Amino acid sequence: MLELLAKPVTQKKNEILAKKCREFISRAHRPPQLTVVLVGEDPASVIYTRKKGEMAVSLGFEHKTLCFPATAAPEEVKSKIQSLNEDPLVDGILIQRPLPKSFREDEVLFWVDPSKDVDAFHPIHMGRLSLGLPCFVPCTPAGIMELLKHYQIPIAGKTACIVGRSSIVGRPMAALMLAANATVIHCHSHTPDLRAMTRQADLLIVAAGKRGLIDGSFIKKDAVVVDVGIHRTPESKLAGDVLYPEAAKIASAMTPVPGGVGPMTIALLMENTLSAAFGQLDHS
Ligand code: GUN
Repeated sequence: MLELLAKPVTQKKNEILAKKCREFISRAHRPPQLTVVLVGEDPASVIYTRKKGEMAVSLGFEHKTLCFPATAAPEEVKSKIQSLNEDPLVDGILIQRPLPKSFREDEVLFWVDPSKDVDAFHPIHMGRLSLGLPCFVPCTPAGIMELLKHYQIPIAGKTACIVGRSSIVGRPMAALMLAANATVIHCHSHTPDLRAMTRQADLLIVAAGKRGLIDGSFIKKDAVVVDVGIHRTPESKLAGDVLYPEAAKIASAMTPVPGGVGPMTIALLMENTLSAAFGQLDHS
């Protein structure tokens, strides 16, 4: 079984990003700037936010995290984001999810100006992605496509099954797979016989957010399995939505957790930030 490790891909990518960052600095006379907005203290979000910041700094970007308490009024956060939208020194803005319950996701999606929306969650990006038009692509699905490309996993003509329909992963992933000429089976919590669907997949992408949902019996022999889940086990280890040891006996290739999808997401976030920065420069 081939382990689809992110490291060889991110190492190469980070060298290219650091070089492009230097090019940006020499043209703009300032570093590209990413601002992360964190509301509340969800422990996983605090760690992710820190990791994003460390990577940004290591590539030569400027990075800021704006922290709000979980009790912050949505209007207060919205007004801060509006001022970031208007700030010419801010290239990329990311609102870390999950947000407290007082925030309405259907409204928040519209807050970040699409030209600075490095998460690519704005409906304009999702719409363009669904139509196969150029746009920012959400970082996790874009990272998965790069990982599959690096390991020369064929997609066109294959059956891809996606488990999960979040706007962060499942929906954009389905659009990308369709654009890459896969036949797409899209499953979710109301799919009656999930196993019957996943067993048809040459390419199984699991983003359900349920630890161990997928055991060996869900996997077609020699399928390629991508595990987007990340969970803390009672033994304080990290695990995905797929039961790795038994899946590894059936799959021909699979992403580990950690070390598979996660680092790719961060790398693509940096790439989107740099694209947003060059975009600003070209329009100024
Ligand atoms: N929470 C979990 N994954 C993500 C992501 O890719 N972007 C944001 N903004 N929040 C997340």
